[in-house]
Amino acid sequence: MNTPKNIAIIVGSLRKDSLNRKMANALIALAPSSLKLEIVEIGALPLFNQDSEAEPTPPVSAFKQQVQAADAVMFITPEYNRSVPGVLKNAIDVGSRPYGHSVWDGKPGAVISVSPGAIGGFGANHHLRQSLVFLNVPAMAQPEAYIGNASSLFDDKGAIASDDARDFMQKFLLAFEQWIDHHQAR
Ligand SMILES: Cc1cc2nc3c(=O)[nH]c(=O)nc-3n(C[C@H](O)[C@H](O)[C@H](O)COP(=O)(O)O)c2cc1C
Repeated sequence: MNTPKNIAIIVGSLRKDSLNRKMANALIALAPSSLKLEIVEIGALPLFNQDSEAEPTPPVSAFKQQVQAADAVMFITPEYNRSVPGVLKNAIDVGSRPYGHSVWDGKPGAVISVSPGAIGGFGANHHLRQSLVFLNVPAMAQPEAYIGNASSLFDDKGAIASDDARDFMQKFLLAFEQWIDHHQAR
């Protein structure tokens, strides 16, 4: 059997009962054996300060090593004020520096936004894609994943309760695997 592809998941919420973290955990459970998904934590990262980018603290080094070691990166994020939460933007900035040593460069990416609201975090999803263009992260275009009305999406055990939503996320994972294959073959 081929070695599974390692996917680093970055969750854009630090909240204990985060719907986005629930989605990350549900996808970890749903993923085929050919994909190994793991959350890379961002809550201990310091606020980015360019003055100290050449002397990374242990949490920064650990974060960068974990992302660097992954074959691909998946962002699962809420929308804050129609944009990307500060904690997620901070993690992106931390990983992108020093200039020329970005951990994001060339990593195939996927974006999922999850919200209790009706429009599924569309604004955050697309603001995030703007940074990914600059960071040279080829972000999968289709299928798009704006997961709305998410308060009732998960059952007591954290699994995706709706058959349709589970089916959609399974297809999303398979499409992402193909997207990674495509970019690794180049
Ligand atoms: C500062 C802040 C701004 C928010 N702005 C939006 C928003 O623009 N769009 C939206 O759909 N939800 C917004 N929300 C609601 C979040 O979608 C909701 O709190 C969600 O549960 C956060 O994701 P999480 O459950 O993963 O923590 C906002 C919440 C906070 C705390």
